[in-house]
Amino acid sequence: MDIEKINSILSKYPEEKGTLIGILHEVQNHFHYLPEEELKYIAKKRNIPISQIYSIATFYNRFSLKPKGKNVVCVCLGTACHVKGAPKIMEEIKRRLGINVGETTDDLNFTLEEVRCIGACSLAPAVVVNEDTHGKVTPKDIDKILDRYR
Ligand code: FES
Repeated sequence: MDIEKINSILSKYPEEKGTLIGILHEVQNHFHYLPEEELKYIAKKRNIPISQIYSIATFYNRFSLKPKGKNVVCVCLGTACHVKGAPKIMEEIKRRLGINVGETTDDLNFTLEEVRCIGACSLAPAVVVNEDTHGKVTPKDIDKILDRYR
């Protein structure tokens, strides 16, 4: 457990109500997920029930209790993308990474997720990797896209 990191995060937040989300955001950003031991430590230090932390952690999509990869690959499966071949793109990415939706590669480099419309329908089919949107993706483009994040 990285006590030093957690202490440095906690030191930035006063011991008041309403700071827990900010703390969890920083923990998520640092570890790419919310590790159990660290959450228990925060609960103890702040004297709050662990159940309260878990209820926030499971409420917000942004938080993950499982390790996430350094890069999150998100395939849009909304209607416009679906019509333009998103299922084939998804299959190709699964095959290339050797994982299913919601899973992370063993080297913790990639996590695969799906989403329903990212508001870029004119670019369908779209794949988002971290903050980058890739539009009009074909199965042939997958290698080139993934290579940028390896
Ligand atoms: S359906 Fe994919 S961006 Fe809208």
